[in-house]
Amino acid sequence: MPYTPDNELDLLFPAEYIPTDVKEQLHSDLHIRPLASTDYRRGHLSVLSVLTVVTDPGEDAWVAQFNLWKSALHTYYGIVIVDKASDRIVAVGTIFVERKFLRGLGSVGHIEDIAVDERQQGKKLGLRVIQALTRISENSGCYKTILNCSDKNIPFYEKCGYQKKENEMAKYA
Ligand code: ACO
Repeated sequence: MPYTPDNELDLLFPAEYIPTDVKEQLHSDLHIRPLASTDYRRGHLSVLSVLTVVTDPGEDAWVAQFNLWKSALHTYYGIVIVDKASDRIVAVGTIFVERKFLRGLGSVGHIEDIAVDERQQGKKLGLRVIQALTRISENSGCYKTILNCSDKNIPFYEKCGYQKKENEMAKYA
């Protein structure tokens, strides 16, 4: 099935927020765009499962979560890379904009849930996702963009221009 053009989709945010130069650096077989309300059907959860355990909530609950993200204005920016020939998702990533009271009501961009389909890894798709999310963060006025990752992924994020700083703490419920 050929890919669905952006203007036929209910997108999470305007497609123009994705930098043109990042779009142009992708192979012509691929397309990068905001998450769409029908992406449950394009394998969104299957790509995310490369990262961690994913429990399928069903399409209705998935769409309800999409709508919750969309209703929180200027906060959630989920993006996907789609294989044009199959209209299937091959890479995903999110930036969440946190608004603070410090630093003159400054904002921080949190990069979350980066995953590339196993068959497509090593082709710079992860890099393009991070480049797009970082620019969205900076264009949203964030004074910094941060993320947590395993030691194994440190070299990848260094290639994306990030540096190791401080430590992560976690307490699971
Ligand atoms: N070790 C060393 N270098 C690496 C690694 C690694 N583990 N992964 C990528 N790189 C390098 C590549 O060689 C490339 O270098 P080059 O420019 O010199 O050629 C550069 O980083 C960019 O790599 P990409 O091809 O863009 O990487 P890819 O598309 O495979 O995406 C990712 C990387 C996202 C880590 C992918 O492998 C993946 O989905 N892994 C499983 C899920 C995961 O761990 N996600 C990240 C969780 S952290 C978070 O979500 C905030």
